[in-house]
Amino acid sequence: MTKTILSIESSCDETAAAVLSGDNDKLELLSNVVASQIDLHQKYGGVYPELASRAHAEQILPVIEEALSKAFDKNLPEAMAKIDAIAVTYGPGLIGSLVVGLTAAKTLAYVFNKPIIPINHWEGHLYSVWLEGAQPVFPALFLTVSGGHTNLILMKNHHDYEILGQTVDDAAGEAFDKVARLLDLGYPGGPAISKEVAKFDGTDRSRQKVDTLNFPRPMLNSHDFNFSFSGLKTAVLYKIRAAGALSPQDKIIFAYAFQEAITDTLITKTCQAIEKFNPKSICLTGGVSANKILRQKFQALAENFPELQIHIPPFQFTTDNAAMIAAAGYFHFISGQTQKWYDINVKPTATL
Ligand code: KG4
Ligand code: ZN
Repeated sequence: MTKTILSIESSCDETAAAVLSGDNDKLELLSNVVASQIDLHQKYGGVYPELASRAHAEQILPVIEEALSKAFDKNLPEAMAKIDAIAVTYGPGLIGSLVVGLTAAKTLAYVFNKPIIPINHWEGHLYSVWLEGAQPVFPALFLTVSGGHTNLILMKNHHDYEILGQTVDDAAGEAFDKVARLLDLGYPGGPAISKEVAKFDGTDRSRQKVDTLNFPRPMLNSHDFNFSFSGLKTAVLYKIRAAGALSPQDKIIFAYAFQEAITDTLITKTCQAIEKFNPKSICLTGGVSANKILRQKFQALAENFPELQIHIPPFQFTTDNAAMIAAAGYFHFISGQTQKWYDINVKPTATL
């Protein structure tokens, strides 16, 4: 029987709401609204938490109303009558930002007497894969890379996870953001670095310059599945200092060399995890999975592991959105995992 979920996401700098229907594991996204705060935070070179909460407070109701009216073309009470449950991100994330989304969800749950499904933001990213219409076969290995986390996770079944490894310092997206700042390329760093890399001319001379930079591929021999990117960031900093002023051409070389180092590291660790845990499918999720080169290298794993199914969500579901929260919520809902609005609180440091 069809079940319809309203979802809300506000853990960082996107205010988002979506409506999704599911029937026997087949998902249909009815609406997906994201109000980005990038313009607001750009001049600070990163997310400014107090500004983020304020913007969420302004945006949350219009975004929810838009998601409901796009899905049903009805007024709020009539649209809410079609909703079976409300899925909402409770953590991890910025506390002030999380509180706005959760308060909106609780209020709607109370007023319209709906169950709530609290969703861990990481789990939301994992479920973004289901939005492409895929059904990853378990056990599925996830490389989840975003601004707040970098994990290798083995998903043995719905809601049954083993965290194989995570970053011991900076997340991959954080490294992109910090290196972009060092290169004065703007915020968010991931797309800014990708834009520079697209200008790389690929000549022998440029490749030689990349080799000379010799950026490290950290932790490849650590015999675990953890990551560390702060040393790579520091290596970039030292080479920038040694080079003095960077020409536009130098910036392209630095961006290219950094992106190669970080994507090689992510892919090599993923290979090691595939060899050890022998999953049936592998999935790439999180904001950094918008990176074209990372996507290509992940797809290319098919050459070494032809028996693996490979899943990468479409670009629009890689960075934060509420559709992925709805997908995760749907699978909790059909297994009876709902809560009452008064039993839920935000958890800024939640892990899976
Ligand atoms: O998943 P997300 O939207 O938020 C968190 O949960 O953190 O990820 C945001 C991160 C930012 O660090 C951003 O720089 C990175 O994803 N990102 C990228 C690209 N697009 C976004 N990193 C590398 N290449 C990209 N094209
Ligand atoms: Zn995220």
